[in-house]
Amino acid sequence: MRQSLLWIGSFAAIGSFAVLAPTPTESQTRWHWPEKSENLKVLPEDTSSRKLRAIMSGFTRALGVRCEHCHVGEAGQSLSTFDFVSDENPNKNRAREMLRMLGSVNDHLDKIEPSGPERTNMWCHTCHHGTPRPMRLEEALLETYASKGTEDAVNQYRELRERYYGRGAYDFGQASLNVVGYEMLGQGDVAGAREIFTINTEQFPESPNTWDSLAEAHMIAGETERAIELYEKVLQMDPESQNARDMLAKLRGTGTEAVTE
Ligand code: HEC
Ligand code: HEC
Repeated sequence: MRQSLLWIGSFAAIGSFAVLAPTPTESQTRWHWPEKSENLKVLPEDTSSRKLRAIMSGFTRALGVRCEHCHVGEAGQSLSTFDFVSDENPNKNRAREMLRMLGSVNDHLDKIEPSGPERTNMWCHTCHHGTPRPMRLEEALLETYASKGTEDAVNQYRELRERYYGRGAYDFGQASLNVVGYEMLGQGDVAGAREIFTINTEQFPESPNTWDSLAEAHMIAGETERAIELYEKVLQMDPESQNARDMLAKLRGTGTEAVTE
């Protein structure tokens, strides 16, 4: 079933400025956008070359990728060597499914009366924000942690922050690493958690909570002195912190019960 594809018009407006500057090899080739596409299964069969170009460059920008991400062809090679008709690259069918999904999402949006002056469309960028595979930061890091370990997850954090900070693709607020660290603690990986919490204190040195989490990891690791030092720091930053008070009492062996208001 072909859903309404009116929303695709929003690509055309954006496509008018070419963000995807062609590499020298591309501009030297004779490759042209096909007047008539041979293998469109979601877009209308008679999609003009101008429109196809706007849509395809919209895709590359929304996902932060180049043509070879979804088509058969090699990075850096002339587009004339690409096989755009082929469905062999699995990302092409993934992208088709995304198009179908957007068709139905936007059908739903058609049914609501927007509170603003104009109805807005959802499109690839709304979720992808310049990333090929959108996910929450903590999800991405935990996925890497599970398959490759702490060091790779830490490197990934630094790379993502470098590349995407301020672009809305990931939440670099203090909660994300906190979630990752506690998940690692839950899995019994104290050393990993300590490393993640340490990075969070470096990013957010003014936040008592990042120090509190780090203190907890040291406490669990049995590093009592360091844990006491850190909880004292938390208490200095936040004299109201009942948790830091309780933990200090516990670590000093005076018992939680002994702590009064
Ligand atoms: C996110 C994935 C994705 C990216 C990136 C992408 N495309 Fe596509 N492209 C598709 C999909 C999906 C179709 C088929 C749409 C359909 O079936 O309606 C398609 C179809 C085409 C077609 C029509 C082929 C035919 O004859 O049927 C051309 C030409 C094309 N793309 C060129 C490009 C170029 C050039 C780039 C880089 C600037 C590019 N695409 C980037 C997913 C992508
Ligand atoms: C509602 C949010 C949303 C929208 C809108 C959306 N995507 Fe996605 N897309 C996702 C998510 C989430 C994933 C990752 C799913 C996974 O791998 O578990 C994904 C995965 C993909 C992938 C596979 C990437 C990979 O490496 O596995 C492609 C290709 C893709 N999207 C293209 C598109 C295109 C093109 C559009 C616009 C037509 C689009 N998406 C719109 C959420 C969205």
